[in-house]
Amino acid sequence: MDTAVLSTGTATNSADPKAAPIAPSATDPLWWRSAVIYQIYIRSFADGNGDGTGDLAGVRSRLSYLRDLGVDAIWFTPWYKSPLADGGYDVEDYFGIDPSFGDLEQAEALIREALALGIRTIIDIVPNHISDQHPWFKAALASPPGSPERERFWFRPGRGTNGDEMPNHWVSNFQGDTWTRTTNPDGTPGEWYLHLFTPEQPDLNWNHPDVRTLHEDVLRFWFDRGVAGVRIDSAALLIKDPELPEVPEDAKPGEHPNVDRDEVHDVYRAWRAIADSYPGSRVLVGEVWMPDTERFAKYLREDEMHTAFNFDFMARPWDADQLRESIDSMLAAHAPVGAPSTWVLSNHDVTRPVTRYGREDTSFAFSTKRFHTPTDLALGMRRARAAALLSAALPGSLYVYQGDELGLPEAESIPLESLQDPMHFRSEGVDPGRDGCRVPLPWSGAEPPYGFTPEGASSAPWLPQPADWANLTVEAEAGNSGSMLSLYRTALSIRRSHPALGDGELTWLDGDGFGPESGVLAFSRGLGFVSVTNLSGAPVELPSYTRLLLASTPLEDGLLPSDSSAWLRTQH
Ligand code: NOJ
Repeated sequence: MDTAVLSTGTATNSADPKAAPIAPSATDPLWWRSAVIYQIYIRSFADGNGDGTGDLAGVRSRLSYLRDLGVDAIWFTPWYKSPLADGGYDVEDYFGIDPSFGDLEQAEALIREALALGIRTIIDIVPNHISDQHPWFKAALASPPGSPERERFWFRPGRGTNGDEMPNHWVSNFQGDTWTRTTNPDGTPGEWYLHLFTPEQPDLNWNHPDVRTLHEDVLRFWFDRGVAGVRIDSAALLIKDPELPEVPEDAKPGEHPNVDRDEVHDVYRAWRAIADSYPGSRVLVGEVWMPDTERFAKYLREDEMHTAFNFDFMARPWDADQLRESIDSMLAAHAPVGAPSTWVLSNHDVTRPVTRYGREDTSFAFSTKRFHTPTDLALGMRRARAAALLSAALPGSLYVYQGDELGLPEAESIPLESLQDPMHFRSEGVDPGRDGCRVPLPWSGAEPPYGFTPEGASSAPWLPQPADWANLTVEAEAGNSGSMLSLYRTALSIRRSHPALGDGELTWLDGDGFGPESGVLAFSRGLGFVSVTNLSGAPVELPSYTRLLLASTPLEDGLLPSDSSAWLRTQH
């Protein structure tokens, strides 16, 4: 993909006179099929104003870092005005930037500046729930049961004689209850409202036309400002069975009362039509956690989303057969709908790869996260390097979560009093929560704040950084050819220039002793490119090649060591 041809355009289809006339150029309408997308958790990327929280000014000052890393797009976790009860996934104003991050003018400038460097901007859209501080919810609380203001949400009387039993027993995605009881103006207990996440995130009622109109306006508002796509939060949860029945024990696909209901596809068809009305391929990327791959692929039909996160691959253990099964099944699921797969090793919700791959259980599950799990970080780093090359060689688009390109481990010694994640608190302290993968990035220097805040900053970073990250700063790694950053830079540069990488086909090299149960994942991409990942526990011979393009660990006597990947140029 030649990003040098990106330019700002003038197209906009908004009537909003304040909308900045910027649009990603239409020169490469299929950019999203091969793109490398870097996820920015804005609170923790770079702090421009010294208040200890990352912000738009910080990102703008580091855009050249992202250009040099070689990414095609950035995805921002929510940057909207928010009380931050769930890190911004509790939106108070979908049309405004949180003051701690900056303002709309800065966001527009950032979108433009990034685009000028060949980097498109994707933002998070949060449609399932809203902040309890949003004017709609405040109005609902101030209005009586049965009022139109309450119909935008799921308010219900309680069960039992005094209405003090919850309307049903749905379990929150953050553990615990999904219903909170309100208090009437006279102080008596009132109705209950539904929240699949925290009580500060009331669920919206997607049967209500206002809810649909609001989100369609949100899409237009940001597309008008030049965003190239949206990542759709909790995308399969929007529609609820209006009877709000208990979850049946043996719910068949499509029968769950709050997950993956068939009607949700109408929402995305409407959104796709809006995206397609803009020039330059504005993309819809779904956060769809779904074990049923056929149901998953339905979200990617040609009139719905463009891509969705491949969490199956992300959650698999470091095991050749498991990874191969995931790769095959995910590619097979995507094929009938013609959508490219995505490849994701982590994000702001899950354990950092360096830590996860250094454990006995290398799979990921929210339910098994625990404090004090023994970890071999050196082994984890070696495998994370191998996984970086493996995922970057697979067909489709690639997501890189900020800090993974530095090989940051999960920060596991954050003092309990500094933890902020509601997942931790709602588990009554059993789950360490997600703060450990959200620690502010180390840019330079030998001690915290490692250049995250500017010289003379008034505040420390919002989450404390470990004292032993001096070798993991951008500055330290940029000067070290053996660092994770150097590996990522080289890999992304090869990926960008190699015609076989990104979107396309994969062929397993099973004939060379690398087949199933060999512990080795070897495949070719197009003519002349082979990727080999060795999970066998012993060094292996490589297939014949004309040039070693890149290896995650140096070869030993010409053999690829265990827990390593190599990219090869081969004879056609
Ligand atoms: C998924 C997001 O990635 C996560 O961070 C958030 O807590 C939930 N959705 C709820 O919005």
